[in-house]
Formats: sequence, C-alpha cells, structure tokens
Amino acid sequence: MKSIASAPAKIILFGEHFVVHGTKAILAAIDKRVTVTTTFTENQTVKINSQLGTIEVPTSPSISSSYEEVKSEFRPFVYLANEMITSNQNVNGLEITINSDIPIGVGLGSSSACCVAATASISGLFKEVSSEENLKMSIEAEKTIFPDTSGADCTVCTYGGIIEYDKINGSKKNTDTSNLNLLITNSMIPHSTKRSVEKVSKFKEDDEERFSQLCALETKLIDEVNIALKNKDLITLGLKMSENQKYLEEIQVSNDTLRGMIGSLKEISLGAKITGAGDGGCVIALVKDENLDKVPALLGKDKEYFSAKIDTNGVEWEKEK
Ligand code: MEV
Repeated sequence: MKSIASAPAKIILFGEHFVVHGTKAILAAIDKRVTVTTTFTENQTVKINSQLGTIEVPTSPSISSSYEEVKSEFRPFVYLANEMITSNQNVNGLEITINSDIPIGVGLGSSSACCVAATASISGLFKEVSSEENLKMSIEAEKTIFPDTSGADCTVCTYGGIIEYDKINGSKKNTDTSNLNLLITNSMIPHSTKRSVEKVSKFKEDDEERFSQLCALETKLIDEVNIALKNKDLITLGLKMSENQKYLEEIQVSNDTLRGMIGSLKEISLGAKITGAGDGGCVIALVKDENLDKVPALLGKDKEYFSAKIDTNGVEWEKEK
C-alpha cells in the first residue's frame, strides 16, 4: 500500500518577518510541488530517499530520541515517522520518498511544503486526517528545523490560494486573485531562514521602539493591500510591494544583489520585493504580461526566473493499493 501526498510552494506577498512578531502577512501558494510517497516495510527502520540523499535510521529503540541527531533536511520526516510508529502498533518500518520541483533554500517554502506533504503522506497510511490536524502536525514537524516559525508557510501550503495569516487568528482566504501576474527571480544565493529570523530578533532587541513602529506600518500597509486586492487595483498593489521592501531593507534582510535585481526590474514592474526570509533567495515582481520577454536582458544570464500561477488546491492526498 502507498500513501501519496503533494503540497505547493509558496511566496510571501507582504509581511514576512513581521508576521513572526505578531503582525499579519499575505501569502500565496504557487504552481510548483513536492510529492511524498510512504510505504510500510518489514525492516525495523525509517528509510528516506530524496534528491539530497538517502538515510536509514532504526525504528527501535533509538528512534524516539533520534530525530535531533539526523541532518536538518531529514529531521521533520524522522520526527513524523517516529510520531506515527509510536502511536500505532504492529508497524515495522516505513520508506518515505520525496520528489520535488521546488528550488531548495531560496524562500519558496520547500521545507514547509515538505512538512505538509510528509504529514499527509505518512499519517495517511494509518488514517485520513483533516486539513486542520494535518496543519498542526506539519508545523510541529517544521519546528524540528526552525523552532520560531510563525506557521504562515505551512498554512498556505495546506490550504492553497492567497491567504491572510496571523499567529493568533490563523488564516483567512482571499477569493478571486486571478489577475495577478507574478514574476519570481532567483538570486541563486541560498539562505537560512532560521539565521535571518534570529537577525531580525536582534534588530528588535536593539531598537524596540523603531521595530514596533515598523510593525504598525506593516499592519496599515496590509489593510490597504486587502482593499487593493478586493478592487483588483494592481497599481496600488505594486506600490505597496515597493513600500514593503523599504521596511525589509530597514530590518537588514536585503543585500546588494537583491537591491540590484529589484532595480533592474523597475522599468517593467509595478512593484518588486524580497519574498520570504531574504539575505538571498528570491525577489517577486508584479509585471504586465507584455513585459515578460524583456526579463532575460534585464536580469542577466546567471539568474533563474519564472512566471508563477496561483495554486488553489493546497495539499492533496491519495492512497494506492
Ligand atoms: C519565511 O518564509 C517567512 C518568515 O516570515 C518566517 C516565518 O514566518 O516563519 C521569515
């Protein structure tokens, strides 16, 4: 028996970093996916196969304490397998296979999508779980690599579409968003979300007053964005992206490469900004269709880019006999 689940990548349209400190953020799921397949095995091990390599750890008796010892990219899978094996009797081992078309470590939610798809795939072998339960478990899995997660990324990978999110109230879906034409450009600089989030916490510690002013500005900006989304007002949305970028510059998660990319896209975009943790990763720009052809000349050959469609499905799961 095989349990197969997939989940989409994500972008943060507005509010990254500030969301960790309690403000709202607006996120979108996009049309790149990770698929996780889980099967029972007769071996007393958890075996994980991915593009990053293969590991096999014993299920008994060491698995209950072992997830902290495995490399961080495998930790959520070992944690989830451990949770399922210890709460279900008569299971020898599991084999988990990950196939992904989401670029890793560049702010597109590869690890959150993995956590969401792995939760659905592994738990789906035992019983079908609701999206809410799946989300809760996947956030716990994500915390094994990134303890301060706001939960925003796993939430949008679970539900899909465009959502507004905050840590206290969870998510609210924005409905018709089909007119957004988003260009995603990859700086090819990998980053660590954990390190960038720690850097922002240090900024907050050093200047509580300015940080709380920036949180208030971000909250006001997101209220204005919600009105612009409702009115399909692309001009305002673009301006708000550029305004949000100024706040991200101030909390020091930008760098010369990212600023250069945003500057290069200026003549063809309505607005552009970092998406996700920053310090590398990707830039998103709101562009008009007819301008897409001009992107390679503006960005140069060393950067990847693609045009993103919004994924409205979120996590998907099926079982094969
Ligand atoms: C990372 O994709 C987004 C951050 O806001 C962290 C988080 O929300 O957990 C930087």
